[in-house]
Amino acid sequence: LPVDPFDLVIFGGTGDLALRKLLPAMFHRFVDGQVPAASRIIGVAREGLDDAGYRSLVRDVLADGGGASDRIEAFLPLLRYLPLDARKDEGWEAFAALVDEQPEHIRVFYLSTSPELFVDICNRLGSHGLNGPNSRVVLEKPIGRDLASAMCIIEAVGRVFSETQTFRIDHYLGKETVQNLLALRFGNALFEPLWNAGHIDHVQITVAETLGLGRRAGYYDRAGALRDMVQNHMLQLLCMVAMEPPASLAPDAVRDEKLKVLHALKPVDMRNVAQLTVRGQYKAGAIDGERVPGYLEELDDGHSNTETFVALKAEIANWRWAGVPFYLRTGKRLATRLSEIVVAFKSVPHSIFDASAGPLAHNRLVLRLQPDEGVKLWLTIKHPGPGGLRLRHVPLDMSFAEAFGVQQPDAYERLLLDVVRGNPTLFMRRDEVEAAWRWIDPILAAWGAAGEPPRPYAAGSWGPSAAVALIERDGRTWNEDSE
Ligand code: BG6
Repeated sequence: LPVDPFDLVIFGGTGDLALRKLLPAMFHRFVDGQVPAASRIIGVAREGLDDAGYRSLVRDVLADGGGASDRIEAFLPLLRYLPLDARKDEGWEAFAALVDEQPEHIRVFYLSTSPELFVDICNRLGSHGLNGPNSRVVLEKPIGRDLASAMCIIEAVGRVFSETQTFRIDHYLGKETVQNLLALRFGNALFEPLWNAGHIDHVQITVAETLGLGRRAGYYDRAGALRDMVQNHMLQLLCMVAMEPPASLAPDAVRDEKLKVLHALKPVDMRNVAQLTVRGQYKAGAIDGERVPGYLEELDDGHSNTETFVALKAEIANWRWAGVPFYLRTGKRLATRLSEIVVAFKSVPHSIFDASAGPLAHNRLVLRLQPDEGVKLWLTIKHPGPGGLRLRHVPLDMSFAEAFGVQQPDAYERLLLDVVRGNPTLFMRRDEVEAAWRWIDPILAAWGAAGEPPRPYAAGSWGPSAAVALIERDGRTWNEDSE
């Protein structure tokens, strides 16, 4: 459904996220008729550009992304640009005047900047009276770099914008498959009775990327994979798999259930960090036959102990999940781009088949987030034809693209419009962010105390061999279908 004309202000308007995700997302919604032409998208950054310069930058980005030129030309007039340094006073009067040109519009202030700037920007928005009832602020993850800094930011932003005006974005929650998890779990009678420690052996969540640092070294090297991916995306996925059925899709009904999962995570700390976690950093290697440099070669000074890979084993200490490990792994420069959730069921209690039938495999439900979003349910069947009863493991396979024939919208497309509409269901409430840091902090502290460098892995591999050992020690394997 279309929304009323609105203003989207992007702080960090020339940055990687704005150019790669936010502006293309707005463009696609515009092309689909959801963004009224009277809306404005105001890029703000330190670069000394003007409207024309910004439009030409965005024109190139959208054209590279395959946008039709007449659509791009129709979209560009929505764009405005204002040079502004969030830490300095000058320019803010002009900025406030520009925003105030449209007093009726919903105003979305998207802080696509380093979290260190969040408080400065919000304070200035507040002191210029830009925090009225039709204003909303969007904070990109990670919020802070640990619990203490996250709480400082949350408190300070909260003095300017109320909780209902604050949208803490985790774009994984906008991905089609993540929402499909809600439909699958709670729209089918089939799964929920089995969705517990009685029937599930373990869960795996993999988010593998082939990309390296790109333009983001400044941010990434201070964050690392645990803060960049695990504290937010991976834990949110884990929550969606593990939460109790919410009573409805009302924002707080869902977020209350996710929070309970975060609170029930067993601590990983000094005592068990070596058994439960693996940190890695990529060295030079090859991806799709092309040589790519190692992490240190991509940095200016060539030194860093930042991890670009994490694998860990988490457990949820509650009635439903006691004893069911959740194996998580994520990394840059891995063999292939693949994100998936694997729910591995227990095997049957007793086999009635002869050894000649072949081994009995476990049922697995595989939710693929990317690429090729879809769902596969691995079943055991009889190999067709004569020749005795031989068992085979085959997937009931549904690719969304094949089944529905449509390109799935990018997560940011949905989430940005949710902000305009004021729907926070798919955004993180402050207590969720804090609970996630509360679990992450002891891991960071334990790694810091151990002082060990990350384990090397070749770009184009599946991470350090210790990540394989982490799961194989328990007699399990990473989902083969993915490798
Ligand atoms: C971002 C991380 O939040 O998610 C990036 O900061 C990562 O490091 C990205 O590359 C992955 O998102 P997607 O949608 O491409 O899987």
